[in-house]
Amino acid sequence: MKKKILNKVLAVMMLLMLVFTSCSNNSNSKAVGKDKLIGVAMPTQSSERWIKDGSNMKEKLEELGYEVFLQYAEDDVQVQLAQIETMIAKKVDCLVVASVDSSALINALQTAKEEGIPVISYDRLLMNTDAISYYASFDNEGVGRKIGEYIEEKAHLADGGEPQTIEFFMGSPDDNNAVLLYKGVMGVLQKYLDNGTLICKSGRTSFEETCILRWSQEVALQNCENYLSGFYANDKLDICCSAFDGFAYGIKAALEAAGYTKENWPIITGQDAEVMAVKNIIDGKQTATIFKNTELLADKCVGMVEAVIEGKEPEINDTETYDNGKMVVPSYLCEPLSLDVDNYKELVIDSGYYKEEDLLNAK
Ligand code: BGC
Repeated sequence: MKKKILNKVLAVMMLLMLVFTSCSNNSNSKAVGKDKLIGVAMPTQSSERWIKDGSNMKEKLEELGYEVFLQYAEDDVQVQLAQIETMIAKKVDCLVVASVDSSALINALQTAKEEGIPVISYDRLLMNTDAISYYASFDNEGVGRKIGEYIEEKAHLADGGEPQTIEFFMGSPDDNNAVLLYKGVMGVLQKYLDNGTLICKSGRTSFEETCILRWSQEVALQNCENYLSGFYANDKLDICCSAFDGFAYGIKAALEAAGYTKENWPIITGQDAEVMAVKNIIDGKQTATIFKNTELLADKCVGMVEAVIEGKEPEINDTETYDNGKMVVPSYLCEPLSLDVDNYKELVIDSGYYKEEDLLNAK
């Protein structure tokens, strides 16, 4: 009889222990790890913005207890495809992709869909696939519009006056953002080309003629050298409408080699507000850039990851603009801001986005 009671007490104790450990395991998994693996595929480490994007995403996801598998493809289409295939084989719980060339990823994304892996398109829209749950980006046409408006204002184009020369350095043809950016730029500047206020001596004004594959700084440098030697031997180049800070660095090198100085330095635009670009803006070697707060972008994207994993609704502010050829992708678009020497302090220093010493140490 005593033995029976003892056995019962032991059984109850074991049951209690089991309940207790499984409860503590549960709470443990919520607080420390969600047992969920997130694959993050980024395009390249050759430009500062993507390094920041990758580390922001990793940090923010890890803070929430996710495990992160972050990969960079160094602008190699096949490398990125292989990385994404590996992520799918690893059975990630969600895939976040900033593509090099999304046309190469269509089949892999289809596989992800079939395997029930939600896909989030990060900054660059994944085209011609219906495998995407959400898209986190900026208003990409707005980026182009801001570049155009900056040039319009800085060069006083609306006031008429002497015609000014301009050359265009547009983004990669396999990046939907580049196409939209061009549209935004031309929405503002085309009328000045048409009425002769702006003169493009190379004659290259279409997207096809001015786009630069994989956003290559070297090609921007070569193009600028060719424009300067071919069309500006006797004339000054007044405006370089550049779609990327990396291009602005190449343009700066070409201008310096051609003997341009602070006295006749053209207006040069950019995109991303990289540390180096902000430094060049302070030094007068770049005129403006577009500040895109990648921390905000990562926050919105992480919200989307949580939503697809936990079955919640993420924050969305656009359900019309981003048609990728197969679906209109629900998006959150952050606002791009023009940055120049007059407002850089407020935008990137006072806000704590960069530290003053980051700018001093940039090289
Ligand atoms: C991004 C830009 C970036 C460019 C080159 C684009 O897709 O939207 O912010 O400058 O890629 O990396």
